[in-house]
Amino acid sequence: MIDSTRPGRLRRSEGIRAMVRETRLSNDALIFPLFVRSGSKVKSPIASMPGHFQWTVDLLVEECKAIVDLGIRSVLLFGVSDKKDEHASQAYAPDGTVQRAIRAIKAAVPGLAVITDVCLCAYTSHGHCGVFSKASKVSAKGGKAARPVAFDEPATLDILGKVAVSHARAGADLVGPSDMTDGNVGAVRQALDQARFEATGILAYSVKFASAMYGPFRQAANSAPAFGDRRSYQMDTANADEALREARLDVEQGADILMVKPALSYLDIIYRLKQTFDLPIAAYNVSGEYSMVKAAGARGWLVERAVYMEHLLSITRAGADLLITYWAKEAAGVLRKGAL
Ligand code: PBG
Ligand code: ZN
Repeated sequence: MIDSTRPGRLRRSEGIRAMVRETRLSNDALIFPLFVRSGSKVKSPIASMPGHFQWTVDLLVEECKAIVDLGIRSVLLFGVSDKKDEHASQAYAPDGTVQRAIRAIKAAVPGLAVITDVCLCAYTSHGHCGVFSKASKVSAKGGKAARPVAFDEPATLDILGKVAVSHARAGADLVGPSDMTDGNVGAVRQALDQARFEATGILAYSVKFASAMYGPFRQAANSAPAFGDRRSYQMDTANADEALREARLDVEQGADILMVKPALSYLDIIYRLKQTFDLPIAAYNVSGEYSMVKAAGARGWLVERAVYMEHLLSITRAGADLLITYWAKEAAGVLRKGAL
């Protein structure tokens, strides 16, 4: 009798282990999120996300040079605004902070791809991702969400289009609508095409769950909703078939890349999207997923580096082609040393 296959035989030597490894991480997949604020010569630490900062444009450019030197190819920009109003008008100001940041990065670090978050929550006085019609504003002012948050969708889509065009005009390579209003990808595509930015791509936040994992980010971007929550526009964490419907809609409307967010509790969703669609899949390893590991690592409860590399590898194994991660700089350092 011949002995049956014993997988353990391939684990005994480091060389064989490396040869039969099925999933590999590469710098090429990494996208580094950055927060940009107004002012100059300031790098304010974000308490909920140790190691991350709100950068003024001048220092952001220096940081981007360091990022490119590490072999990272792309950044995802988020604006932090202290000027907020009901119409999120600062989100599409031609000389707004994000628009200036894009131009400065493109001038100083042309090899770095710039992706921008297109949403209104950091710019609306109420902190929601869309704008309200006059009638629903009354309940908003009551302080508590008397009924579910319901946007003025045409007005919201119109503003999102303006934001995307302002980013494209400044030189963004990809724009990422993250608001979850139905029709957002189509509206952004149409606005870009009308303004002759046919070459600017869309990274669609196709499957964005109403997750508790965004907490640290809302402190970082000063974008927490003043009343209610985001469950009327972000997805129920219980749903997987709906994720495919959301993604399909974005494909039909012109998405170039599909994103799943958060990543770690949603590996099944990443897998299903990868099996179903023929577009690149991105996964967002979000703020809460970062801060949990940071906090435990700081206490010596686990080895931070081993955990985040395991996370990034697992997200890749599930099917993600692109990794948006606050660990990008550290991971690039590890990969450079050939440690994984
Ligand atoms: C805003 C937006 C959020 C994130 C990215 N874009 C927060 C939210 O929906 O409240 C979260 C990212 C993270 O947690 O790292 N639309
Ligand atoms: Zn938002």
